[in-house]
Parts: sequence; C-alpha cells; structure tokens
Amino acid sequence: MGKNFILLFFLAIFILPHDNTLLANISTDEAPLLALKSHISSDINNIIASNWSSSTPVCSWIGITCSSRHHRVTALDISSMQLYGTIPPHLGNLSFISSLDISNNTFHGDLPVELAHLQRLKFVNAKTNNFTGAIPSFLSLLPNLRFLYLSNNQFSGKIPTSLSNLTKLEVLQLQRNFLEGEIPREISDLCYLTVLDLEFNQPTGSIPPSIFNITTIQVIALTDNNITGKLPKSICDHIPDLEGLYLSRNSLDGVIPSNLEKCRKLQILELGDNEFAGTVPRELANLTALTMLHIGVLHLEGSIKFSSFSLFPKLGTHVFSQN
Ligand SMILES: *[C@@H]1O[C@H](CO)[C@@H](O)[C@H](O)[C@H]1NC(C)=O
Ligand SMILES: *[C@@H]1O[C@H](CO)[C@@H](O)[C@H](O)[C@H]1NC(C)=O
Ligand SMILES: *[C@@H]1O[C@H](CO)[C@@H](O)[C@H](O)[C@H]1NC(C)=O
Ligand SMILES: *[C@@H]1O[C@H](CO)[C@@H](O)[C@H](O)[C@H]1NC(C)=O
Ligand SMILES: *[C@@H]1O[C@H](CO)[C@@H](O)[C@H](O)[C@H]1NC(C)=O
Ligand SMILES: *[C@@H]1O[C@H](CO)[C@@H](O)[C@H](O)[C@H]1NC(C)=O
Ligand SMILES: *[C@@H]1O[C@H](CO)[C@@H](O)[C@H](O)[C@H]1NC(C)=O
Ligand SMILES: *[C@@H]1O[C@H](CO)[C@@H](O)[C@H](O)[C@H]1NC(C)=O
Ligand SMILES: *[C@@H]1O[C@H](CO)[C@@H](O)[C@H](O)[C@H]1NC(C)=O
Repeated sequence: MGKNFILLFFLAIFILPHDNTLLANISTDEAPLLALKSHISSDINNIIASNWSSSTPVCSWIGITCSSRHHRVTALDISSMQLYGTIPPHLGNLSFISSLDISNNTFHGDLPVELAHLQRLKFVNAKTNNFTGAIPSFLSLLPNLRFLYLSNNQFSGKIPTSLSNLTKLEVLQLQRNFLEGEIPREISDLCYLTVLDLEFNQPTGSIPPSIFNITTIQVIALTDNNITGKLPKSICDHIPDLEGLYLSRNSLDGVIPSNLEKCRKLQILELGDNEFAGTVPRELANLTALTMLHIGVLHLEGSIKFSSFSLFPKLGTHVFSQN
C-alpha cells in the first residue's frame, strides 16, 4: 500500500504530463489536416484527395513533415497543387508547426484568426492565392515569425502597424495587393528586416524616413505605388547592405540624393517615372556594383556625361530616355 502510494506519487510528479502538448500525439494533428482536406473543394490533380487517407500514417502524407523527436507535424507544404478552397480554423490546432506554405493555389476567404495559436511559426507563405479582407493583424501575435509572404492576393485596407511587433521578421512581402493608407513608420522597428516589398499596391503619403534606418535592409521595393514626397538627403547613411532600391512609377519629387553613393552594394536602382528634378548626381558613378539603373522619364534638366558611366563595369541596362 505504502509502496503503491509512493509509486503513484512518483508517476504523478514525473511521468504524467503537466503540459497538455505532451498528451497530444500525431492523431491530434490528423483531425485539423482532415478538416483542411474537407475544405478543399477542387483538387483537379487528385493530390490531397487520394493521398491524405486515414489508412496511411499522417507523417507519410504528401506535403507533411514531422519531427522525429515529438513525432508531430512541423511543416505543411501544399504549394502549387492547383487547390481551390478555404483555410479552416482547425489548422490552428497544428501546435508544433513552424512552416506553413499554401502558396500558388486558389485559396480564398480569410486567414482564420485561430492561426495565432501557432506560436512556433517561423515561415508563412500564402502568396499567389485569392485571399481577401485586411492583412490579418493577429499575425503580430506570432513572436517567432521570420518570413511572411502574402503577395499576389486581394488583401485590402491598411498595412497593420502591429506588424512592427514581429521583431524577428526578416522578409515582408506584400506586393500586388490593394493595400492603401500610409506606410507605417513603425516598420523600422523590424530591426532584422532584409526585404521590404510593397510593390503594386495603392499606398499614399511619403516613404517614412525611418525605413532608411533599418540597418539590415537589402531590398526596398515600392514600384508602382502612389508615393509622394522627397528622398531623405542622408538616405544611405545607415543602410550599407542595400542591394536593390525599386522606386519607379511613383510621384516622388525633389532631387536624387548624391548620398546614394554610400550604398556601395547597390546593384539595382530604379527611379524612373517620378517627378525628380535637377541632375543625376555625378557621385552615382561611384556605385561600381550597379547592374541595372533605370532613371528614365524623369523631369531632369542638365546632363550627366555618359563617359561617367563607363565607370560602371557591370552596368547592363541603363535607361535615360525622355528626360
Ligand atoms: C494519442 O492520443 C489520443 C488522445 O489524444 C489517444 O486516444 C491515443 O491512444 C494516443 N495514441 C498513441 C499512439 O499514443
Ligand atoms: C502519398 O505521397 C507520398 C509522397 O509523395 C508517397 O510516398 C505515398 O506513397 C503516398 N501515399 C498514398 C496512399 O498515395
Ligand atoms: C504554380 O503552380 C502551377 C500549377 O501547379 C505551376 O505550373 C507553376 O510552376 C507554379 N508557379 C510557381 C511560381 O511556383
Ligand atoms: C481544433 O480546432 C477547432 C476549431 O478551432 C476546435 O473547435 C476544436 O476543438 C479543436 N480540436 C482539438 C482536438 O483541439
Ligand atoms: C478571386 O476573387 C475575386 C473576387 O473575390 C473573383 O472575382 C475572382 O474570380 C477570384 N479568382 C479566382 C481565380 O478564383
Ligand atoms: C505584440 O507581441 C506581444 C508578445 O508577442 C503580444 O503580447 C502583444 O499583444 C502584441 N501586440 C500587438 C499589437 O499585436
Ligand atoms: C535614424 O537614425 C539616426 C541615428 O541613429 C537618428 O539620428 C535619426 O533620428 C533616425 N531617423 C529616423 C527617421 O528615425
Ligand atoms: C495618386 O494620388 C493622387 C493624390 O493623392 C491622386 O490624385 C491620383 O489619382 C493618384 N493616382 C493613382 C494612380 O492612384
Ligand atoms: C565619388 O565621386 C566623386 C565625384 O564623381 C569623386 O570626386 C570621388 O572621388 C568619388 N569617391 C570615391 C570614393 O570613389
């Protein structure tokens, strides 16, 4: 009796789980995946329909990766399968998942708020689908998110300021949606950001100067928006790793800052179709890594000597037309 009591005590303390994720096992992950399957209304290649079957182990299903340690689903990749359907809230039960790729299908509707439960998520790719509504602000509750791709959808409304909460974020791609409003200056809180892509949206206002204070940034892409204002004089003082600056087809004015020469790694500089005035600064000839320079259809006066551009050893395309 005494022995049994001690054994039970031992079991309760050391064996019985305190954290309910320990009670869970791979069958906990099967239900949300079958819910997803049932929300796929068209699967013309019969991929999920034939492969995700209860008679085979979940970890052998196509697009599923499991951890060997916990034997739980850690990644779901059903990209490019020509699936049409919606994302059910049940997906928020895949509590061990760190990578979710549903890109290049025709999923529509909302991303369900239950996905905010997936606290291990590092990588979310939902690009090239037909999602609508606002960029979900619950994404800001995913503290480990490093890569967020929501481009090529029908997202509308403002870019949520709360995204600045994602302090580990490295890549933010929101291009080709219908986003409007000002670009939040709080984006500069993303101090590990390397890629910021907002091309082909409808934001207004100017580029928050704080963006040029993200010291890790490599690509700033804002082509084909409706952005106004001037570029900061000290644009390149704090962003030594910038490789691509895409600002064509906006309504930027003022002068092209000669300080751009401080972005020594710049390979692609697109400034065409704006309202810049003045001359192209001679200092740009110091950008020896440039392979692509587009400054056409500016309202530039004066001239830059083409001989200066023989200094760009790698320059393939440069467009000076219609100044
Ligand atoms: C998995 O967990 C469920 C309850 O969540 C339980 O019924 C089942 O027996 C467990 N399976 C294994 C193999 O541990
Ligand atoms: C499901 O797909 C995986 C990966 O392609 C394959 O190994 C497995 O045999 C398939 N299972 C069924 C039941 O089709
Ligand atoms: C998107 O999916 C289609 C159909 O599966 C495929 O042919 C195409 O290569 C995919 N595109 C990308 C960029 O992955
Ligand atoms: C899974 O998620 C759904 C919807 O969010 C919820 O109703 C259900 O209780 C969850 N199931 C489990 C086993 O956690
Ligand atoms: C995407 O959604 C829009 C409007 O919600 C609809 O008009 C369009 O047909 C959808 N595209 C596809 C490929 O389903
Ligand atoms: C920011 O993140 C913290 C911790 O991850 C969370 O508690 C807080 O609610 C988030 N704030 C917003 C505005 O999302
Ligand atoms: C950018 O950083 C510099 C130096 O850290 C600081 O003086 C300046 O106020 C910052 N600018 C913006 C717009 O945040
Ligand atoms: C850009 O914004 C201006 C003023 O805010 C507006 O008059 C114009 O129609 C907009 N252009 C486009 C293409 O949205
Ligand atoms: C940058 O360009 C200016 C003007 O063309 C030139 O005087 C200067 O020497 C260059 N600096 C470097 C570091 O090449």
